Amino acid sequence: MRMPLPKPFSYSILLLLLFSFLSTTISTSFDFQSSGNDLKDVYPEILRDEAVARLQQLGQISDAEGYLERTFLSSASVKAGNLIRGWMEDAGLRTWVDSLGNIHGRVEGRNASAEALIIGSHLDTVVDAGIFDGSLGIISALAALKVLHVNGKLRTRKRPVEVIAFSDEEGVRFQSTFLGSAAVAGILPASALQITDKRGITLQDVLKENSIDITEEHLLQLKYDPESVWGYVEVHIEQGPVLEWAGFPLGAVNGIAGQTRLQVKVRGSQGHAGTVPMSMRQDPMAAAAEMIVLLESLCKHPKNFLSYDGNCKSSILESLSNSLVCTVGEISTWPSASNVIPGQVTFTVDLRTIDDTGREAVIYELSSRMYQICDRRSVSCTIDRKHDANAVICDSELSSQLKSAAFAAVKRMRGEIHTELPVLMSGAGHDAMAISHLTKVGMLFVRCRGGVSHSPAEHVLDEDVWASGLALLAFIETQL
Ligand code: GLV
Ligand code: MN
Ligand code: MN
Repeated sequence: MRMPLPKPFSYSILLLLLFSFLSTTISTSFDFQSSGNDLKDVYPEILRDEAVARLQQLGQISDAEGYLERTFLSSASVKAGNLIRGWMEDAGLRTWVDSLGNIHGRVEGRNASAEALIIGSHLDTVVDAGIFDGSLGIISALAALKVLHVNGKLRTRKRPVEVIAFSDEEGVRFQSTFLGSAAVAGILPASALQITDKRGITLQDVLKENSIDITEEHLLQLKYDPESVWGYVEVHIEQGPVLEWAGFPLGAVNGIAGQTRLQVKVRGSQGHAGTVPMSMRQDPMAAAAEMIVLLESLCKHPKNFLSYDGNCKSSILESLSNSLVCTVGEISTWPSASNVIPGQVTFTVDLRTIDDTGREAVIYELSSRMYQICDRRSVSCTIDRKHDANAVICDSELSSQLKSAAFAAVKRMRGEIHTELPVLMSGAGHDAMAISHLTKVGMLFVRCRGGVSHSPAEHVLDEDVWASGLALLAFIETQL
């Protein structure tokens, strides 16, 4: 049975508290007609109708029946990758798949040795996902390039353009996100080949199953030379309610919150639910429950747990109070039967904030308090760090170019507008975080209904899909 959806309003208030929402007046007023650009149209057939149809088609490719799920290199992911590869070719791009399952499409432009623009997003999804998270960024990029292709303007760009559909951003399969983009950025350690999924299969074996025989050396070869890249742009649904509040289809992103994922294993004494007296139990489920409630309290009220003079300065505490969010999204028990006191409980912790130092302080405080709970309850605990990504600040020049392009696109669609373009922080993780280790990054957010994401209720208006393709087109036309 499907769980009720979260009320968008309840977390939108939180979101506004969490992230600074700055409004910046746009000073540039580029538009297709007045810029001397000879685009006759705004290409609704390609940028809207075909893009929306492709989103729907991709959204049908799932490993599960009745809901959308595509995890790293699953058979649905491979199928989705093949479809995307065909669309890349349709947009006039030369394509290949790399050893981590990323799909690449590239056009060299007038100067193949010039630094390339990379545009990307991810093709994997969460479990019971919406159809726009990740896919929108890939499809709007391909739509914009297709417009240039049909107009004979693709090969005349002054630098190469490459679209990458990254194989893993959600990290559902291995709990280690950005496998694809981290490899391209050169920050995926060789040890990552040995990480295991829930069935105990290593990343290396998953790749082998897909006929990719990867050695540590191959992995290192996936890294792009920073000298060969000009910058990275990603279009993504906002996954929050700010753009809808602002009544604007597009917004620029000034930064992305840092994140850590933990896996907590609690081992107790497995036993009979009817015969072991309450006072004699070492129940890992009750211990896990206490730890989860502790997590919630700490993340709601960090000031009550971290001291000003001890591990945290007041400015850090302030930014934690404004931006810290923590989630236990997955929990499993062994042997998982109603009349058995579990022997083991495993749960995940997803912890995010814009303050990297504060995040470390929270993890330290949380871990030591969790271990105290385990000691007091005589259960044994391990806390493993599965993933870390520092907060990222987007490049200001790239952001302002994207803002101008977004403004131009909306103006072109709506006519004269007298409004401001929202600029927001992202609480969600994006491939741009990994790619920021390679090159400057900029992002555009696209409005989504009710701010809902990671849910089948995720929705983007057709007109906003169109606006996002048009903005990318304007960006490429003016900057390349
Ligand atoms: C990806 O959507 C994430 O932020 O976890
Ligand atoms: Mn995403
Ligand atoms: Mn996501």
